[in-house]
Amino acid sequence: MTPRTTPHHLTEHQHAIIGCGRVAANHVDGIRRVPGWGLAVACDRIPEVAADFARDHLIARTMADAQEVFAAPEISSVSVTVDHAQHAELTERALLAGKHVLVEKPICLDPAEGRRLVALAEHRGLVLSVVAQHRYDPVVLAVRDWVRRGLLGELLQVSVALQAARAKDYYQDSYWRGTLTGEGGSALVNQGYHCLDAVRWICGDVRAVAASCRTVAFADVIETEDTLSGLLAAGPVPVTLNVTVAGRIEWRSRIEVVGTAGSVVFDLDHPGRLQRFDGSAELVRLAELEQSRTPTEAPAGLSYYGVSHRAQIADFCHGVATGEPMLSSAGDAVGTLEAILALYALGGRRQPAAALTALSA
Ligand SMILES: NC(=O)c1ccc[n+]([C@@H]2O[C@H](COP(=O)([O-])OP(=O)(O)OC[C@H]3O[C@@H](n4cnc5c(N)ncnc54)[C@H](O)[C@@H]3O)[C@@H](O)[C@H]2O)c1
Repeated sequence: MTPRTTPHHLTEHQHAIIGCGRVAANHVDGIRRVPGWGLAVACDRIPEVAADFARDHLIARTMADAQEVFAAPEISSVSVTVDHAQHAELTERALLAGKHVLVEKPICLDPAEGRRLVALAEHRGLVLSVVAQHRYDPVVLAVRDWVRRGLLGELLQVSVALQAARAKDYYQDSYWRGTLTGEGGSALVNQGYHCLDAVRWICGDVRAVAASCRTVAFADVIETEDTLSGLLAAGPVPVTLNVTVAGRIEWRSRIEVVGTAGSVVFDLDHPGRLQRFDGSAELVRLAELEQSRTPTEAPAGLSYYGVSHRAQIADFCHGVATGEPMLSSAGDAVGTLEAILALYALGGRRQPAAALTALSA
């Protein structure tokens, strides 16, 4: 897609991106689609990375130190798109500097810190949003609505699976991926995050019951897990979760929700699709309507990131401009982090073989 720039005198809100890596293009794309918003700064602690990114996306200024961004009075909001370990500190510093913050998932690596950030944003009257773009996918919103309206009857069980393929150099070439301190886990907290988060969004909060956490293919490269299976409960409803980044398929996710009056199977890949459905005439009617929706938009970044960064960023900008609450709150992102950490605790992140005992105990 051809990058679009908006002259500064036409933009009311100046946004900056901190961290010009893989996901940053989705933030440029999302901000540029919102009238009155402009991209003022590309910041990366590696100056050449910031310069290349700014050139590719026609961003006028680069900075190498986030502190420069925080000190710039014309910047009203920032995207924090760096490794997981720095989310807390950069988000806090941005909020203290009076900037609205859009931080990539997970909110941070410590739920107590996450709650502090949410409280700080509230206290300062600033918008804090944690990117979980699949919450805005039309298929996810549709299924959420059907579950809430009872169209599937009483829920019996939910299954969620992500199979992804990562190469060793995905970890070897990164300063943070595959490290406990930088990423805080891998298959679940990074890629599987979206599956678990979507289930919480659809079914409500979950409690971790058991987990098996293993490092099968990348044991010589990463400290974290490449494969995790878990059992959770959404109230009385059992939820099984299987995620791996050691598979052969680049990205395939699948969520199945089974109730007494109907069931649906869909995925979070792009385009998010309802694969199967069964139930009442009303459910079938709505599902067929959902099936007939033809997605026309191409994603800005990697295809499996989907197109919904745009919707979340538009919601973020609306929240900043109006003070109205966003569809999904940053506080809820703390809940997803807590569920992830509970699964890690049950699965024993660093002892692949021993982790299986959690399931047999
Ligand atoms: N929502 C999604 O679908 C999605 C997809 C990919 C990544 N992510 C998330 O986005 C975040 C970033 O992931 P990525 O894959 O883009 O990472 P990346 O490693 O590709 O890029 C991170 C960039 O941040 C820069 N950086 C690090 N510390 C900095 C600092 N203090 N100041 C300025 N720049 C700094 C690095 O130099 C690097 O260029 C992670 O939280 C990840 O989980 C989300």
